[in-house]
Amino acid sequence: METWTIQRLLTWVTGYLTDKKVDAPRLSAELLLGHVLSLKRIELYTKFDRPVDKAQLDQLRPLVKRAGEHEPVVYLVGRTEFYGIELAITPDCLIPRPETELLAARAIEFLRGRRGPQRVCDLCAGSGCLAVAIARNHADATVTATDLCARALSVAATNVDKHKLAQRVTLLCGDLFDPLIAQLDGPGFDLIVCNPPYVSTREYEMLDRNVREYEPPAALLAGEDGLDVYRRICAGVGPLLRPDGALMLEIGYAQGPAVREMLERTDLFQEVAIEKDAHDNDRVVLAHRGRRKSAAAAGLMPEETAE
Ligand SMILES: C[S@@+](CC[C@H](N)C(=O)[O-])C[C@H]1O[C@@H](n2cnc3c(N)ncnc32)[C@H](O)[C@@H]1O
Repeated sequence: METWTIQRLLTWVTGYLTDKKVDAPRLSAELLLGHVLSLKRIELYTKFDRPVDKAQLDQLRPLVKRAGEHEPVVYLVGRTEFYGIELAITPDCLIPRPETELLAARAIEFLRGRRGPQRVCDLCAGSGCLAVAIARNHADATVTATDLCARALSVAATNVDKHKLAQRVTLLCGDLFDPLIAQLDGPGFDLIVCNPPYVSTREYEMLDRNVREYEPPAALLAGEDGLDVYRRICAGVGPLLRPDGALMLEIGYAQGPAVREMLERTDLFQEVAIEKDAHDNDRVVLAHRGRRKSAAAAGLMPEETAE
C-alpha cells in the first residue's frame, strides 16, 4: 500500500476541495494539514516526504469532509491571522476579514500622530481583532471593546489574554453604547472604531453558503437596508467622542454615500472621507471631528448668528 506523505495528502485534499467547489482549495488543504500535524504552512513544504500516521489521518478525514461541505476552515482549525497577529476564532464570532485590516491600519496611524495616552473604543468587537491589533501596535492606547454577544466577547477575552493585553483592553458586554454610559461624564474617546453588522436583508440571502450557514447572523445583518447600526452610531456618538477625536467605520462597498450623508448631517465632523480597499471598493469611512462647525458654516440660521 502506498504511504500517505504530506505531499500526496496535499494533492489529494486540494483535489477533493476543488471538486466540492470550496474557495482557495490549496490554501484550505494547507491549513487543515498544518493544523493536524502541528506544522506551519511553510514546514509542510520542507517536510514534503514525511509520512503521515494513521491517527493523524483519522483526525484529518472528518475535517476535510466538513470543509467539503463549506464549513469555514478557520472555524475548523480554530484560529486565523489578522494584521499579522494570530487570533483564536470560534463560530461564536465573525471570522476577521483581510479588508478590516485597512481600518486597523488607519486607526493605528491616527493614534501614532497624537501625543500621550489615547483612549480608544472598539464597538462591535467580535473576536477582538481590532482591539488587539490597535493595543499591540500602540503602547499608549487603552481600548474599551464592546459587543452584544457574550460568547463573542469570550473569544475576544481569549485573544486579549493570549497577547497579554488585559491591562490595556477592557471588554464590556451590551448593546452598542449602553456599556459605555459610565464613561459619558469623562473626557470622551480619542478614537472610536467600529466594524458593525452592515448586510441588508436582501444581500444576506445572496451571501456565500460558508458565510450564511456558519457565521453568526447577528454579526452580519443590520436591518432592511443594512444601515441600522450606522444610524444608531450617528445618533449616539457625539457625547463619547473628544472634540479633537475621530470615528472610523468599516462599510459595505455600496454604503459610502449613505453613511457619509448620515455623518455629515450630525454636524459633528469637520471632515468625512471614504477610503477604498485593495479591490477598489469603498471600505472605510474616516470622520475627523476637529473643531465643531459653527452654525453659520453649517448654513444654519444666518440672521441669528450674524447678530
Ligand atoms: C461584523 S462583526 C465585527 C467583529 C469584529 N470587530 C471584526 O471586525 O471582525 C459585528 C459584531 O457586532 C456585534 N453586534 C451586533 N449588534 C450589536 C449591537 N447592537 N451592539 C453591540 N454589538 C453588536 C456582533 O455580535 C458581532 O460580533
